[in-house]
Amino acid sequence: MKVKVLNHPLINFYMTVLRSKKTKSNQFRFLARKISSLMAFEIFNDLKVLPYTIETPLEKFDGVTLNDPKPCIISILRAGLIMSEGITDIFDEVSIGHIGMYRDEKTLKPTNYIKKLPKNLNNRQCYLCDPMLATGGSAVSAIKILKDHFASDIKLICLLASDTGIKNVQNNFPEVDIICAQKDIKLNKNGFIIPGLGDAGDRIFET
Ligand code: PRP
Repeated sequence: MKVKVLNHPLINFYMTVLRSKKTKSNQFRFLARKISSLMAFEIFNDLKVLPYTIETPLEKFDGVTLNDPKPCIISILRAGLIMSEGITDIFDEVSIGHIGMYRDEKTLKPTNYIKKLPKNLNNRQCYLCDPMLATGGSAVSAIKILKDHFASDIKLICLLASDTGIKNVQNNFPEVDIICAQKDIKLNKNGFIIPGLGDAGDRIFET
């Protein structure tokens, strides 16, 4: 499995503002969406395309077209919604799925409360989005759900990942690649990434 931490200066700048406790909800949404858009170039560097020839006004050009079926973006609710919006701002030839997951505050175990997925996941590229990979429990459960629907080409996209979360996904699904904007090392006893950015869902939706 490959883990790619983007660590790009522009992304690092926006992530710093995103992490700050001074950043209000409306600006947090704006930045989380913008960073997700900036990540799109890297996220789709494995996008499957086929040779396709068109006519320019002057002559033939051997270009590419998208593979059929289209890829899909799957958001882990709630916080993953903002990533799906940012990514589709850049590339929207995708189907979109949702997996609702909440983490019990005491046990940190995730519970799935909704699941709406595009058809035929077996031969699609699936990009699973969640801003936070903390213990990794939510991502592992969501990947299990995608596998139960025969998805075989899954990439996990996060804004912030912890070493613990990465290891958890690696141990369970060594074939799943992970792309994150930044990585932190620690989790606190409540399962929050440290220094992190707080609770992404609460900051996005002001709850
Ligand atoms: C947060 C976050 C991830 C999960 C990460 O969601 O958005 O989905 O926790 O933690 P884990 O890696 O330890 O599973 P939360 O359960 O708070 O739900 P929300 O998105 O609705 O706020």
